Amino acid sequence: MTSTQAVKPSVLVVDDETGILETLRILLKNEGFTPHVALGGKQGLDQIAALAPDIVITDVRMPSVTGLEILSAARAKDPDLPVILMTAQADLRSAIQAVNEGAYYYIQKPFVNGDIVAILRRAAEHRQLRVENRSLRQEISRRDRNGANQPVGRSKAWLSVLRLAETVAPTESTVLIQGESGTGKEVIARYIHQLSARASGAFLSINCGALPESLLESELFGHVKGSFTGAMKDKSGLFTAAGGGTFFLDEIGETTPSTQVKLLRVLQQREVIPVGGTEAVPIDTRLLAATNRDLEEEMKRGSFRSDLFYRLNVFALHLPPLRSRRDDIPLLIDAFLHRAAQQRAADPKRLTDAALDAMQAYAWPGNVRELENALERAVILSDGDTIDATALPERITERRSEPLVTTHEIAANPTLDVIERAYIMWVLQSEGGNKSRAAEVLGIDPSTLYRKLSRYGVAE
Ligand SMILES: Nc1ncnc2c1ncn2[C@@H]1O[C@H](COP(=O)(O)OP(=O)(O)OP(=O)(O)O)[C@@H](O)[C@H]1O
Ligand SMILES: [Mg+2]
Repeated sequence: MTSTQAVKPSVLVVDDETGILETLRILLKNEGFTPHVALGGKQGLDQIAALAPDIVITDVRMPSVTGLEILSAARAKDPDLPVILMTAQADLRSAIQAVNEGAYYYIQKPFVNGDIVAILRRAAEHRQLRVENRSLRQEISRRDRNGANQPVGRSKAWLSVLRLAETVAPTESTVLIQGESGTGKEVIARYIHQLSARASGAFLSINCGALPESLLESELFGHVKGSFTGAMKDKSGLFTAAGGGTFFLDEIGETTPSTQVKLLRVLQQREVIPVGGTEAVPIDTRLLAATNRDLEEEMKRGSFRSDLFYRLNVFALHLPPLRSRRDDIPLLIDAFLHRAAQQRAADPKRLTDAALDAMQAYAWPGNVRELENALERAVILSDGDTIDATALPERITERRSEPLVTTHEIAANPTLDVIERAYIMWVLQSEGGNKSRAAEVLGIDPSTLYRKLSRYGVAE
């Protein structure tokens, strides 16, 4: 919903095969990127220096300068530059090395065009966020806040989530946390860990969407020596490493059917079989999982196993979107402003009424994360001790171009019907036309909303 991606992200493609370069150049151009190509690693290095691209995608095996060297040169120049590696062989060792050294993604050739475009889109988004937040030292403050910070919020909806989390925390139960992006799934997962008997153990997590299947499985379950090229010795996986503690499977909706089968087995048997191994290793780990997908929906479509779903969903937590708990907005603002003040060892800045109004009225499609980022940026942009609406991103302050209701309708004394209709249309519009979300915000059943819309004669 954010409309900041107006410029086309530039992508530098490095490969020693002209065929690949040409294919990608055409594909990327058609998909709204600005492609640049470099034939071979040497040219690649030159172009990274000369062009400052937004994303680099490079072959791994090239004579003279390899993909890994391209990766380290790119990261030395700009640590927020996403680098995607392509390889013809499934070479897990260099994949692991690449990801450890900060590669954004590792894709195997031949690839499906749609896959590579999806990865590039994600990389472009990631890049944009990183650049927006760079000056804010987001990483450092995020690390701080992961520690002692307590979940903020006192709305009814949020308190009921906290109560449920507190109830389930001391048990060993698996918990599935669902909610839109930025609603605080990881915050809640850490909260559960802190309140559990495992609090002194590790809290480890993995983003299941960030790694290709084979690498993800090796990270999760470990592998045995010789199980694939480059597996020089046995390695234990994260389930084992989180022994005595909690393991958080983030973005579980992104797992492939094959990984899902293996996860199901882990949940049923409480043991893992390392990749390439035959012997099961028992584990002592509490499992939490999260997703921003609607897994019930995915299950109906057949893209998520129902048996795994029920094993994970022993205890379900649904995190409400920020727009349906607007009471929490001032509290969150306050907490974030205080934190920012602490970091600067200064008094907290204050919002002007206009800025506060805009934040209260905005729909927050990116939820708490979006609010947090907007405030951190505003703090940096504001010199004095007040933050005005002009320091907020434009999407938050911009007035809606379409009138909520035509003026002749509200000119006279409007009837309740007219007001209701205007309000419903306004919510629908702020939810980008999404009727089920609008119904949620309005606190009515979707079928009720449909009925009202058809009464108003609102077409699809
Ligand atoms: N209730 C809260 N109190 C304080 N901070 C919060 C709260 N909810 C979210 N945050 C902050 O907002 C950001 C996003 O939260 P988190 O990473 O937990 O969301 P998420 O649901 O996992 O998002 P995504 O789906 O994008 O991974 C974090 O920086 C977190 O600290
Ligand atoms: Mg998350």
